[in-house]
Amino acid sequence: MFIDNSWRVLTIGDGDLSFSSSLLTHHQPASLTATVLDTRDVLLAKYAHNDYQTLLQKNCQVLCEFDVMEAKSWGKLNEHSFDLIIFQFPLIPAFKSHQEFQEKCKEVHINTLNRQLLRHFLLNSFAHFLDPNGARLCYITSKDVKPYKEWNIENALNMNTDIDYLGWHHFDINIFPGYKVRNVDRDKHVKDTKGITYVWSDNQHCSLRKQLNEALYQGKEYCQLCASGPYNNEQDMLKHQHTKKHLNMLNYEKMWQLLIDRESL
Ligand SMILES: C[S@@+](CC[C@H](N)C(=O)[O-])C[C@H]1O[C@@H](n2cnc3c(N)ncnc32)[C@H](O)[C@@H]1O
Repeated sequence: MFIDNSWRVLTIGDGDLSFSSSLLTHHQPASLTATVLDTRDVLLAKYAHNDYQTLLQKNCQVLCEFDVMEAKSWGKLNEHSFDLIIFQFPLIPAFKSHQEFQEKCKEVHINTLNRQLLRHFLLNSFAHFLDPNGARLCYITSKDVKPYKEWNIENALNMNTDIDYLGWHHFDINIFPGYKVRNVDRDKHVKDTKGITYVWSDNQHCSLRKQLNEALYQGKEYCQLCASGPYNNEQDMLKHQHTKKHLNMLNYEKMWQLLIDRESL
């Protein structure tokens, strides 16, 4: 992960704050503001080992109950004052009840809700959090396996915006000693930490692009939607297009497109 120590960094949804703590200690950005979605009490109760106090002792601003989708939760955040915003392994929390599930998934799928979380992360970061004169970068680290790869991260999130997807690199957890990737709902950490960091900017002259890998699964021998391929010939591709997996992805894409269309009404 590229961290320039002149950058002012904001972290989003940082579970037990171990990522922010490691970032501060081992990469020493110019400043760090760490945020979590949980209340302070829930965070302390959920994760026996957390870095809440460690960060406060280092004079790092920590904001709890910070919902990246809800402006009214941003409270004391100093808007337009960051160079880089990072969201590690985003995932919507589990529904609290069957009723909540039915309400939230009336017209959409969990897939769409996760995409919405990531899209709003990008939209709000570029509109409200990033300094117009700063580096203007957003990183999302996620996984290239189901269900995450079904979010079409590289192509779907920035549709109809002036935010450019710049590329990706492998996430190396070894450069973040002490960081434990957390389960969204429980005091568990995820053992398989293989991740990909995806990068966006609206700065056309962003030099980071040169150091990143190009978007995955592009080109006519790949199915961009399913993040699969290469397919050897047209027949193999056709066969793939009739699979349940592909039809499922078409359905997710249709639901997503509906939501994007509704945004512009
Ligand atoms: C799989 S956990 C990863 C936690 C942490 N980032 C890590 O790498 O260990 C997903 C995180 O996304 C956060 N999250 C989900 N929806 C959010 C929202 N609307 N605003 C901010 N954070 C959110 C959850 O609170 C949770 O901490």
